[in-house]
Amino acid sequence: MSGSPERLAPNDPAMYDRLAGEWWRPRGVFAMLHWLAAARGALVPPAREGAVLVDLGCGAGLLAPHLKGKGYTHIGVDLSLEALRQAAEHGVLGVQGDVLAVPLPDSCAEVVVAGEILEHVRDLPRAVAEACRLLRPGGLLVIDTLAATAVCRWLAIGVAERLPRIAVRGVHDPGLLVDRETLVAECAKHGVALALRGIRPKLTDVAGWLFGRRDAVRMVPVRTTAVLFQARGRKRV
Ligand SMILES: C[S@@+](CC[C@H](N)C(=O)[O-])C[C@H]1O[C@@H](n2cnc3c(N)ncnc32)[C@H](O)[C@@H]1O
Repeated sequence: MSGSPERLAPNDPAMYDRLAGEWWRPRGVFAMLHWLAAARGALVPPAREGAVLVDLGCGAGLLAPHLKGKGYTHIGVDLSLEALRQAAEHGVLGVQGDVLAVPLPDSCAEVVVAGEILEHVRDLPRAVAEACRLLRPGGLLVIDTLAATAVCRWLAIGVAERLPRIAVRGVHDPGLLVDRETLVAECAKHGVALALRGIRPKLTDVAGWLFGRRDAVRMVPVRTTAVLFQARGRKRV
């Protein structure tokens, strides 16, 4: 894959700065993040004008187009200043920070989104605690991530990271994939009852995209949550 980072440890956040020119290329190495952002945005309901949505690990703000017209003030939290700079160009108010210690007040958000970030953090319970702390009672938590299973390690790392344009080599540390039971239990501790559903790219769309006939690929539900999954739940009032 062109632009594959060399000599960085798996999951090194510096990767995103090296690949900063790829964020908004629909056919670049982050293409699948665009497809996932569309699927994530579909889980976010419209809100009153100005309601706060906090996007943890927002990257370059790929979720922004999928929130258009829904009323939110979109706040993005990320370590990468360059990603935040690009996110700002798409209307995201950037906060540089770690999702393990977010510099935002308790209960500030109507919606907290954690898209393709939990499989990058070294302390899942802490990341979940932070996400839930930011949510107001009754607020919505929206997640998508990769499951800690052998099949996911094989597909998402062993296979996908070797396919040009599907995933970046070395972007995932297999030891950080997300244990679904732990995720559900940690959210429950903070009053958020999560419902999970598996998703995958629609294969005919992938073929169309590979042959240049489509710009984007739709994600479709699958029965298993053992690979890529979305999760959603409201915080107890
Ligand atoms: C796979 S990208 C996902 C970006 C975005 N959520 C999306 O789906 O397009 C992961 C992002 O998380 C950021 N990141 C990784 N670890 C982080 C941490 N501990 N705190 C804040 N941001 C982090 C990276 O800089 C990167 O922008």
